[in-house]
Amino acid sequence: MKTIIEPFRIKVVEPIRLTTREEREEIIRRAGFNPFKIHSDDVLIDLLTDSGTGAMSALQWAGVMRADESYAGSASFYRLQEVLRELTGFEHILPTHQGRASERILFELIGGPDKVVPNNAHFDTTRANAEHSGARAVDLPVSEALDPRNRHPFKGNLDLKRLESLLGEVGVARVPLVMCTVTSNASGGQPVSLENLRGIREICDRFGVPFFLDACRFAENAWFIKQREPGQSDRSPREIAREMFDLADGATISAKKDGLVNIGGLLLMRDEDLFRRASDLLILTEGYVTYGGLAGRDLEAMAQGFQEVLDEQYLRYRVRSAEYVGEKLLQAGVQIVEPPGGHAIYLDAGAFCQHLPREEFPGQALVVALYRHAGIRACEIGSVMFGGKDRPPPALELVRLAMPRRVYTQSHMDYVVEAIGELHQRRAEIRGLRLVEAPDTLRHFSARFEEN
Ligand SMILES: Cc1ncc(COP(=O)(O)O)c(C=O)c1O
Repeated sequence: MKTIIEPFRIKVVEPIRLTTREEREEIIRRAGFNPFKIHSDDVLIDLLTDSGTGAMSALQWAGVMRADESYAGSASFYRLQEVLRELTGFEHILPTHQGRASERILFELIGGPDKVVPNNAHFDTTRANAEHSGARAVDLPVSEALDPRNRHPFKGNLDLKRLESLLGEVGVARVPLVMCTVTSNASGGQPVSLENLRGIREICDRFGVPFFLDACRFAENAWFIKQREPGQSDRSPREIAREMFDLADGATISAKKDGLVNIGGLLLMRDEDLFRRASDLLILTEGYVTYGGLAGRDLEAMAQGFQEVLDEQYLRYRVRSAEYVGEKLLQAGVQIVEPPGGHAIYLDAGAFCQHLPREEFPGQALVVALYRHAGIRACEIGSVMFGGKDRPPPALELVRLAMPRRVYTQSHMDYVVEAIGELHQRRAEIRGLRLVEAPDTLRHFSARFEEN
């Protein structure tokens, strides 16, 4: 069969509210033209993020009921530990309430003024946490990542030559670790090849620098490796994922993505001394080491989620869903970051809103237009998210349509495609924005705009 179906039946449903264009006009204006400030009841299809927005399975909900809520030594923690040790090979497993808590602990321990942290492309919270410690976050994507039309199979790769030069230039004493984000959210949900990860490992070994993964979407990355990397098609996603983790010394993970849960994170490592120091900070700021700021039921749901996510049927459907939307948009003449990413489609807002200069935030303007036109909520990944005082503008102005896991059906996606196609026909009418209020860091969450 050619049709790839959603590999699940729907047992619980949640109504979504239809709004009129007039209502949406008022709502987006009141929200300061920032979709983070819209109530979710006023959103028809919510593609703001794939983080924590997925649907849990019957087995995960069953786990919620059987969970052990003990403060110390919870059986749910030990189940999670066993699942993750087997999946990743990392000895030390610390739960946290979400990915950025793992990042904050890690960078508080290894970051600091004068330090430099290379990554293929930092995502917003990773960059913000590295910078908050005083360190400089440096992105080293391959050049193919900067061209939305380039269909290179591994556009998430880190530029190995630039990494070597950076390590030589600043000196290893100033580089506490090298990070690589799989898949690369900031570059369009694009995967990193095993070959590239092996290359990073080799350089880190040569320079004596630890290597950490930002592994939020490790399973989607493993699936892309299976599909695209020569010699990998016969291996299971689990085997590939294990090799990815084997190449690293540790990982930060937001379990709200490939952990298939609504809340949860992890900090994983091999180093005993780092583990001890991280445990102390965890206890100080998140909670005891066997719950890390989560309830036992969250740990239990994570243990189950990390197993389900490697199911081949699920991963085939998951990656195909984004690809389906991407193909339809390209057919409608809409430029996206090609090839489609694992968890999202990224619209090339610079191309969509050619009439708007960067100072008028073409990505944010497109996000506003999408909500107004069809009640769809998306997220700007461009000058609003990454720009700001003393920061160079990002290479691309993008709008991310992130797909929550196991939530929307193909007809929801057909509606999205139709709405974007219609908007594209009338793109010259999209109005630019000016920023009237924003904090210095992570400004996309709370910025306010006015329309030009
Ligand atoms: C690549 C990447 N790293 C880190 C994070 C932070 O995770 P959390 O939102 O759970 O704090 C995210 C979240 O979107 C992400 O996409």
